[in-house]
Amino acid sequence: MSRLAGKTAIISGALGGQGCIAVERFLAEGAKVIASDRAAAPTGRVAELCKASSCVYVGGDVCDEAVQTAIVAAALERFGRVDVLFNNHGIILGKPFLETAASELDAVWTVNVRATYLLSQKVAREMVKTGGGSIVHNSSIGGVVAFHDMTAYGAAKAAVAHLARAMAADLVGHGIRVNAICPGAIDTQMPRNFVGDHPEREAIFQAIADKHLMKRFGRPEEPVNLALFLASDEASYITGAVIPVDGGLSAI
Ligand SMILES: NC(=O)c1ccc[n+]([C@@H]2O[C@H](COP(=O)([O-])OP(=O)(O)OC[C@H]3O[C@@H](n4cnc5c(N)ncnc54)[C@H](O)[C@@H]3O)[C@@H](O)[C@H]2O)c1
Repeated sequence: MSRLAGKTAIISGALGGQGCIAVERFLAEGAKVIASDRAAAPTGRVAELCKASSCVYVGGDVCDEAVQTAIVAAALERFGRVDVLFNNHGIILGKPFLETAASELDAVWTVNVRATYLLSQKVAREMVKTGGGSIVHNSSIGGVVAFHDMTAYGAAKAAVAHLARAMAADLVGHGIRVNAICPGAIDTQMPRNFVGDHPEREAIFQAIADKHLMKRFGRPEEPVNLALFLASDEASYITGAVIPVDGGLSAI
């Protein structure tokens, strides 16, 4: 398969549950990949994939503008261009609205919104020079419908979804498409962080699964499949879209 042949893709949050699958799938579809995450060096499957010349890892905090610049520079230096950005990094906060500290709110917004905005800006400036590209934000169904103890995260992910619409409007004249995917609960570390070490952990996971029409968590490859489609030229008439991948959660 070569749905991304000839393209260079940047994938943030690349060592996470969805990011790791995205690196693997994008490479399998012919892309050259810059994989980035907080850790200084890649681990696990991404470390294996980075042994190939088509995959380069850039470590660092994506909130740091110097790291954002290094990510873009790596794409240009190693592969000469950037065609796709999958803004996949993210952190969650499981806290009631009344108990959220300003520092926690700032952290959630800085990672999920500010870093997405500024990394996209740096990437889009390069895409403008080469005539276009595709940017995909990993938002959340938690940014579309409300969940208990998810106010800071949900509001930030709603902002990420709106960024896709607003950026699509500003960038359409440059041939850049911008879309957002909104996963339901996906079986990665993130929902485990959200639930924490609650004594009724298993019952909470079941209750989360039951919110979806399909009564299950999504598998990491299920949102990644949509991100890959949106990144590819198959999605050439789709921009400014905010698309659920949520097992029917938002249908009810
Ligand atoms: N898992 C879910 O239920 C779910 C649902 C909806 C949306 N999402 C979104 O999907 C995306 C991928 O999450 P996931 O499910 O793979 O979870 P995950 O926790 O496995 O992966 C998130 C990755 O983002 C990275 N990251 C976080 N802060 C960073 C920073 N400051 N600098 C660099 N990297 C940073 C983490 O190190 C991690 O590897 C996130 O944006 C998340 O908000 C997840």
